[in-house]
Amino acid sequence: MEWLTLFFLHVIWSQILKTMKTLTKVTDSVLTQLKEEMVLRKTSEVFLLFSFGSQFSHLIAQMMARIGVFCLEADPAKITANDVGQINPIGIVLSGGPHSVVDDPPPFDLGILGIGIPVFGICLGFQVIAKYVGASVIHGALRELHTYQLRKLDGAAALLKGCTENHQVLQSHGDMIETNAVSLVVTASTENAPVAAGESGHLHGVQFHPEVPDTTCGELIFTNFCFGICGAKDRFPSKDVAEQKVRELVKELKGKTVLLALSGGTDSSIVAYLLKKAREFYPFDIIGIYIKGLDRSKDEQSVRHFFEGQPWLTFEVIDATRDFLSELQGQKTSALKRKAMKRVYQKVLQGAVDHYKADCIVQGTLNTDVTESGGGMVTGARTATIKEHHNVGLSFFVPGSNSEKPLPEITPLVDQVKDTGRNIGQEIGVPVELLWRHPFPGPGLSIRISDEVTFEKLRISRQVHEILDEELAKAGHDKAVWQYGAYVTNEQHTCSKGDEAVSGLILMWWAVTSVNGFTAEPADLPYKFRRRVAQRLETEIRGIGAVCYRDSGKPGATIEVG
Ligand code: XMP
Repeated sequence: MEWLTLFFLHVIWSQILKTMKTLTKVTDSVLTQLKEEMVLRKTSEVFLLFSFGSQFSHLIAQMMARIGVFCLEADPAKITANDVGQINPIGIVLSGGPHSVVDDPPPFDLGILGIGIPVFGICLGFQVIAKYVGASVIHGALRELHTYQLRKLDGAAALLKGCTENHQVLQSHGDMIETNAVSLVVTASTENAPVAAGESGHLHGVQFHPEVPDTTCGELIFTNFCFGICGAKDRFPSKDVAEQKVRELVKELKGKTVLLALSGGTDSSIVAYLLKKAREFYPFDIIGIYIKGLDRSKDEQSVRHFFEGQPWLTFEVIDATRDFLSELQGQKTSALKRKAMKRVYQKVLQGAVDHYKADCIVQGTLNTDVTESGGGMVTGARTATIKEHHNVGLSFFVPGSNSEKPLPEITPLVDQVKDTGRNIGQEIGVPVELLWRHPFPGPGLSIRISDEVTFEKLRISRQVHEILDEELAKAGHDKAVWQYGAYVTNEQHTCSKGDEAVSGLILMWWAVTSVNGFTAEPADLPYKFRRRVAQRLETEIRGIGAVCYRDSGKPGATIEVG
């Protein structure tokens, strides 16, 4: 493979990892957010992953998601035993990393190991455990990656249940654990590690890397830890969820004509691929509709690139620019613009339903879209930023029924949030470019423009987004940020362009890091880069007077202005 795939995964995930929000403190507000997120994910169980800097930490997080448990990353230098007690996870994972417990231990509150919560240490994580229970850890030979056959010892641990000698494990030479501590029960060895796995009460560990695909029993080991040792009950493995969704779609859509609102963003693309999979079991017609008008220049190119001319889908772009602009006339607040956009969206899609005589409509609506549109967050504790999402609460009708018979509406991702949706997409082969597209709001550029939306402001907004796209990609920041955008205000700023003193609009742009949009931090972009972006925007776009970068996060502000 495996190395190519591994390298590829590593490149992608190491970029993504930078965007992951790691738990650095535990406050009432963090606990409230966590509670809300757990309600949304329909689970009362959380795992904590302490990453000691391993290049494979992202693979651990991904493995936990794949087997279907909710896992939060925690900063080992900041999260204490007291914090862990407040979070009350059902299990803890310690990753590997470049430190050495011999002379350069990772920053970590060892009190966490004494709480009694099951812990699974991997490589360095296992060495931390071994030293804690009194075993010696010594510098070994040179660091080197190899696979070895696993040799289980008699009475092997619950962690290795089902693993056999036919399994190979990827082992890293480095520090070695010695077998001298009576409190550490050795449960497996390999050719180069006498202590390849071991346990001491609620503390478990392996010297190899179960998170990499080269360890053939890795998933089994994580499953044993989470469900066997920690007793997790809530299990939502994305593979099972994906299969279940495909089965449901086959049942619902057999022989029908299905109209899919296809923006080409992550969620609607995942739904398109779910439909594609379902169609492999029983044929039905899929019509994908892309509505153009409030989009960025590259959105149409991208959606065409992935969906136009596909044998499993009839793809159509409908240009609704005039309808949008006419409906948005006189609409000055974001709330009103959202409503106006939604009216056009509904009208255009209903037109397509009638035209293609569709039997049902399918949308990529997420659980978050519904809760945000429905009035307040689940516990009511977060300042409710209620947004009317364009894809929630619409009524479509059976063609020719005179708006009397409601059309069935199918939303396969309505029980998912952004990252769990992405996990499903990954299982069914959605191209990575689609899977990791930055989110873009349904009402599009209309809510990134202050006051009334005019053709001129749309032109400016498009050009601004083009320059931001280009500059962020060129500097490699597009992967490190979760989302970016710009807001064209209605305020004039005087400016000197050449000898002429003129004025132009003030533009505010932003970039954030986030996991799923519930919370966000302003991206820490270098000043020189921001200065360059400002210079390009001011000089290349007629109508821009001055440029500001937003330093607010969420909470505090929200991601979109309105
Ligand atoms: P806020 O602004 O609430 O945004 O912090 C959270 C995430 O949701 C996106 N967003 C939307 N997405 N339709 C969408 O499909 C919408 O109406 C909408 N409003 C906000 C926003 O861009 C961010 O990623």
